[in-house]
Amino acid sequence: MASLSLPKVSFFLLLLTLFFYSSPCAARTKCCITSLYQLGDSIADGGNVIRIPDAHIQARAWGLPYGETFFNKPTGRFSDGRIIADYIASALNLPFLNPYMDKSGVSFSQGANFAVAGATALNSSFWATRKVASVPYNVPLPAQLEWFKSHLKSTCGSTCARTLRNSLIVLGEFGGVDYFNSLGQNMGEPEVRTYVPLVIDGILSAIRDVIQLGATRILVPGVFPFGCLSGYLKRFPDSNPNAYDQFGCLRFYNRFAMFHNTELKKALANIQCEFPRVKIVYGDYYGGFRTIFRYAPWLGFNTSTLVSACCGCCGGVGQCSSPSDGLCPNPAQHVNWDGLHLTDEAYHRISDIVINNAFPKFGCYGLGNSGVLSSS
Ligand SMILES: *[C@@H]1O[C@H](CO)[C@@H](O)[C@H](O)[C@H]1NC(C)=O
Ligand SMILES: *[C@@H]1O[C@H](CO)[C@@H](O)[C@H](O)[C@H]1NC(C)=O
Repeated sequence: MASLSLPKVSFFLLLLTLFFYSSPCAARTKCCITSLYQLGDSIADGGNVIRIPDAHIQARAWGLPYGETFFNKPTGRFSDGRIIADYIASALNLPFLNPYMDKSGVSFSQGANFAVAGATALNSSFWATRKVASVPYNVPLPAQLEWFKSHLKSTCGSTCARTLRNSLIVLGEFGGVDYFNSLGQNMGEPEVRTYVPLVIDGILSAIRDVIQLGATRILVPGVFPFGCLSGYLKRFPDSNPNAYDQFGCLRFYNRFAMFHNTELKKALANIQCEFPRVKIVYGDYYGGFRTIFRYAPWLGFNTSTLVSACCGCCGGVGQCSSPSDGLCPNPAQHVNWDGLHLTDEAYHRISDIVINNAFPKFGCYGLGNSGVLSSS
């Protein structure tokens, strides 16, 4: 630069300025991500299942206290407020995603949420042959992809590849429901372990599908440490104190979740080599969750209630059955919300960690809350 004359430098600056002004994704959106598409289960459902006719969901996400902390009304999210998908949208300067099932004329110009509570990665015929019941309204991963494709056809038609080039796809987590259903219906762990490669094949096949559609950035979250979810702790109590770790989590189910996550990471590394021009990034929901347990006192969580649900504590597994059913006075001090899902505050902290770790790999810097804990 030292040898450049002033006019040359000015010309260079002018070019730079023109470049940024002509870029389709300046200012308003972050790192050229102008839309967000979410697939998944109840961890990511933003209001789909409550719009499916006759879906008898145990967790009454259509009523309070769901939504009480942030939206001040139930939205179909399985939380007292926002979910990870909301925090990701906010980090990208995008509005909260509307659920695909909302046919009331809401905008989908910046993406859509296809996640449905109870969704498995493997399709219903797989579960039927193994006599494992899934919810009757199950919209498994392959069916959500069909929704996604038909949504694209009706919204962007022939320009979808361009839309997807500037989008982020969040694929999951998936597997949580597959494993909870089968473990909860007395399938032994050795048997359920054999489903892991199949679940991961399902995720890989979905990755290929969305790449085929034009996706260039895909976040693939792992599963939570199941053994720290109060629903698992209630459903699978163990009389041996050594079955629990220092936080009161069931080691066995955490090991199972880790097994899935390790296999998923290996599979993602392989498929990444196949598609060097696409960024396929693992989302460390497990690490984020464990990190907030480790730093709970500094983050304002009550360490004596880390593994107890805020709501429905005295009721069932993964549900708040009435507005006041054992509701804790301060959800922000709880990680577990209703047994299988987390609080607004827990999702907030986990999202910060995931965004800080994963987004730089998409070329997106400085989007997370700086100074936040890192999971590694
Ligand atoms: C279910 O998945 C299997 C294996 O991936 C596939 O062969 C089958 O066609 C799928 N069935 C439906 C109804 O999607
Ligand atoms: C933490 O939870 C325990 C058990 O519910 C409760 O007795 C205690 O007051 C709580 N601590 C704070 C700071 O709220």
